[in-house]
Amino acid sequence: MTEPFGIALVGCGTVGGGVAKLLLEQGQRLAERAGRPLALRRVVVRDVGKARAAAIPANLIGAELQTALNDPEVQVVVELVGGTDWARRAILAALAAGKHVVTANKAVLAEHGTEVFDAARKHGRAVAFEACVMGGVPVVAVLGQSLAANQVLSLQGILNGTCNFILTGMSAQGRSYAETLAEAQQRGYAEADPTLDVDGTDAAHKLAILAQLAFGATVPVPSIDRRGIAEIHNLDIRFAQELGYTIKLLGEAWLDATTRQLALHVSPVLLRHLTLLAQVRGADNAIRITGDAVGETLLYGRGAGQMPTASAVVADLIDLAVGRAQRTFQAMKLWSGGPSNVVLRPSATVRSRFYLRLQVADRLGVMADVTRCLADHRISIASVVQHEAPEDHEEGTVPLVIMTHTALTEVFRAAVAALDRLGCIVSPSVYYPVED
Ligand code: NAP
Ligand code: HSE
Repeated sequence: MTEPFGIALVGCGTVGGGVAKLLLEQGQRLAERAGRPLALRRVVVRDVGKARAAAIPANLIGAELQTALNDPEVQVVVELVGGTDWARRAILAALAAGKHVVTANKAVLAEHGTEVFDAARKHGRAVAFEACVMGGVPVVAVLGQSLAANQVLSLQGILNGTCNFILTGMSAQGRSYAETLAEAQQRGYAEADPTLDVDGTDAAHKLAILAQLAFGATVPVPSIDRRGIAEIHNLDIRFAQELGYTIKLLGEAWLDATTRQLALHVSPVLLRHLTLLAQVRGADNAIRITGDAVGETLLYGRGAGQMPTASAVVADLIDLAVGRAQRTFQAMKLWSGGPSNVVLRPSATVRSRFYLRLQVADRLGVMADVTRCLADHRISIASVVQHEAPEDHEEGTVPLVIMTHTALTEVFRAAVAALDRLGCIVSPSVYYPVED
């Protein structure tokens, strides 16, 4: 088949601009890979007059989605708008109009996957979404195809480039949270609303999609226990470093293959400095996937930004133009609403070691009160760090850091709540899981 594969780009900002560049500047290469030209037929944006990253012919640009949907020469709609309202309706309208859909919108798939995939099946079209998780790193293809022989047992991933960029800036360069977040936005890594990045929601969206691919589990996003990075203090980064750890925001899932229970969470985690995930810097992402046949695998690469994400989008376009994506889509039966073969397990029932930072009154008997409270909750202490009060400390208080032995998360949380009720604790305690 040599007739062009017609594409409508809906959204032409950071990612859409990169996709337009690849389509317009690498046409020859893409046509060779796809077996036919990938033709950019329409570009739908909000502001038609805005300057664009690629030299898009003016006659292709418009503000009306319907014009693209009515065009018989458009076979696929690429949704790169973001958000869950307009974008969801645009995706459903594209499928109803008989177009395939490529999207980088993890929020829509995580929150409306069943509706979107049911609509695609109803209209006999495919949805491809490699760019939704880990930007340019091909984790969707790996879980959906390359590791298909496995029962995945666990996933442990740095899934948000913005958070990793901020944490790297704070720990390696001693920069402030606000300064590094502003730079992540300026570089095009962050979501339009960066709260979604820093509060862990974006990573939870990605984890929900990974859970669908790896475990066939449709996990409601609100059921994923999540904490972001906004409360991480430079003090915690320094204490973690002193103890031999790096703080990373991880999305994790563990399957108990016997009971079929699946636990998931998004949380800052202390990782040993020398582990592979601890070494992942800047906007890079990485994921450790353990399968029952393959054992441990690690994928690593650029998790956000214009061209890495465009690389994933255009790979999906090539797959659709060749016809592979349609077959994969049919075979995988994602979000099909069938009975789930896993049961969600509250992450509070997971056992872990913990890093705990208390801001305590600098007076007699405080250490005894704290250790007694932990002992009452059967929490065993592995190490304690208390330095002379730093110069910038609150008058009469001092940070006290405790590393625990393994404890049940819900028991540990109860112990922290009890500690925070002690008169000697002057501000809410900070704690993160530790993985050795
Ligand atoms: P962006 O830079 O804000 O671009 C959004 C685009 O959507 C703009 O071109 C905007 O038009 C257009 N748009 C907004 N509302 C519209 C409407 N009602 N009708 C038509 N067009 C509309 O966003 P982005 O960073 O490229 O992200 C796009 C999607 O990719 C999001 O789902 C995001 O989560 C996902 N993603 C982003 C990255 C990344 O690194 N940035 C990585 C992976 C996935 P104007 O240009 O005229 O304003
Ligand atoms: N805002 C997202 C991130 C974009 O920083 O990871 C990639 O999905």
